[in-house]
Amino acid sequence: MIAASAVPVITIDGPTSSGKGTISRSVARALGWKLLDSGALYRLVALAGQLAHLDPDDVDGHVSIARRMQVEFQADDTGEERVLLEGEDVTGAVRAETTGQGASRVAVWPAVRDALVARQRAFAEPPGLVADGRDMGTVIFPAAELKVFLTASAEERAARRHKQLISKGSTANLADLSREIAERDQRDSSRAVAPLKPASDAVLLDSTGLAIQQVVARVLALGRERGLWKV
Ligand code: C5P
Repeated sequence: MIAASAVPVITIDGPTSSGKGTISRSVARALGWKLLDSGALYRLVALAGQLAHLDPDDVDGHVSIARRMQVEFQADDTGEERVLLEGEDVTGAVRAETTGQGASRVAVWPAVRDALVARQRAFAEPPGLVADGRDMGTVIFPAAELKVFLTASAEERAARRHKQLISKGSTANLADLSREIAERDQRDSSRAVAPLKPASDAVLLDSTGLAIQQVVARVLALGRERGLWKV
């Protein structure tokens, strides 16, 4: 077995709709590295709880799900990612706004977070891992070679999320989204365990007004400057 420290890790943390997912995926592709979308794991716990008709306040029930759930991340023929829960394709449901809200509630419970630690660390496989989330650099991979904390103004994040939902054919209201994003930021930043905050050694990157490719280029440049890769 390869020690976790033998595998280089880049962490990309930040608030909701800061572009972490898109940036992390692009960086992982450019490097040919693995990707951990840790938010998807919290979403899956919330979704599995809903599907099992668990009481939303049932901590033990959600902890048990976090320990036992069978999850697979796959790419389909077109390169689109599919998420399977107990063998069922839940790709659409996992990205739903209500699932994100549910994720942010179960993510407050320390026992749920603990139950997901080993699962997240197991994603660190050669040749390297790009880990996307809220506490990747602070809790899950504190020895990561490069830590990025990605932000963008709340207005820009709400506008991005709005555009994303509309392009998927969903109806979305910008004012509602802004309010939900503010609520989620507040809950994620104020929780007692693993709150959303930059690691002391993270590089802060504000993507307001920047195109995706500019942010990806900046992350790749940071790794190059540190001698992590030549890309
Ligand atoms: O990133 P995403 O929006 O998919 O995350 C959903 C929720 O999961 C977040 O609002 C946050 O509460 C929680 N989360 C977390 N720690 C992570 C990733 C996500 O608490 N590493």
